Amino acid sequence: MHFQTKAIHAGRERGIDGPLNGPSYPLYLTSTFHQDSHTEAGEFLYTRSGNPTRDNLEKQVAALEESKYALAMASGMAAVTVSLSLLEPGDKVLFHEDIYGGTWSLLEDFLATQKIGFQIVRDLNEFDFADLDPAVKAVFIETPSNPLNQVTDIEAVATKAKEHNLLVIVDNTFMTSYLQKPLQLGADIVVYSATKYYGGHSDVISGLITVNDDDLYDKLKLYRKVQGSPLSPFDAFLTNRGIKTMPIRMDAQEKNTAQIFEYFRDSDAFDAVYYTGDPARPDYTIQTKQASGFGGLISVVLNENYDLNVFTSSLRVFALAVSLGGVESLMSVSATMTHETYTQEQHDSIGIKPNLIRIAIGIEHIDDLIGDIEQALEKAKK
Ligand SMILES: Cc1ncc(COP(=O)(O)O)c(C=O)c1O
Repeated sequence: MHFQTKAIHAGRERGIDGPLNGPSYPLYLTSTFHQDSHTEAGEFLYTRSGNPTRDNLEKQVAALEESKYALAMASGMAAVTVSLSLLEPGDKVLFHEDIYGGTWSLLEDFLATQKIGFQIVRDLNEFDFADLDPAVKAVFIETPSNPLNQVTDIEAVATKAKEHNLLVIVDNTFMTSYLQKPLQLGADIVVYSATKYYGGHSDVISGLITVNDDDLYDKLKLYRKVQGSPLSPFDAFLTNRGIKTMPIRMDAQEKNTAQIFEYFRDSDAFDAVYYTGDPARPDYTIQTKQASGFGGLISVVLNENYDLNVFTSSLRVFALAVSLGGVESLMSVSATMTHETYTQEQHDSIGIKPNLIRIAIGIEHIDDLIGDIEQALEKAKK
């Protein structure tokens, strides 16, 4: 079955809700489930451990990822946290410095207090594993990265990581299983902020984990239960509904983004354009090798002849907001919005200029998107 068909039909068996048999899976808003006797529980016992609506979503997600298991989490950060809970005191995590800020903060501000350390590198593609800190037990990859859309070669890094017995975790939020399947490239665990493309409508905070290994699954499921971080049934319902249109939304976003890239490239209002679909980029071949598309994110550096404040406040179709992956187009100024907690040194090292704008393209009509940028540029010209 093709991805598009599975997105709509995969999940729990049809007819599970009795003779009503609706096309959308029912929302079970219940915290607990009656038992017939004190010695026997049914398939579901208590919603923190399991819930049919969440279970339906997990089956849908596993079918799309072609994974054995999926776990729906209260947020993308809950997915990251439970995955990194596999580490023990004294262990370290290897990651690249343009990783999502929340993941970095989890490592620096929380896991460090639990005696879990880290080794940070600029670029995992370039990293020589001979320099690996012997305490490192896991590598955490996010590709493409945010905000510069740098691509890490998952298969190459996973192969080297496996030679050192590292657990390979990939944050696949920006690509989703529609465009990239890291488990098939050597990852052990894939995490998602399903708040983004899976949910797709900016109305839910949601996370996902996919995994093939039985032992890893058992541990992650247990940690989710004891940490109390599963997705609520209502949010599972919304995520399940969002996923049904994910392929067509992502196709539309990708088409719009490719056209906007051409507009940006030909405009003299931008000093730099960062897009995984730019054939001139050195990592373009990695992207085309490991993913079947380029996604809906693009970043630009606004030229100094344009006033950043006037430009961003003049937008009428684009909203100025953090996040991405929804049907609506959003812009965020990385230095002051998504990466405001980073030091100047970190901004310089990653390449976050004060006028760098990360743009998440939605599914609006392309003429309205380009028209909005043009009218805002006109107002912002100094
Ligand atoms: C790449 C990436 N991973 C994880 C997260 C965290 O997800 P959530 O906000 O759903 O907790 C985000 C959020 O922006 C993200 O962009």
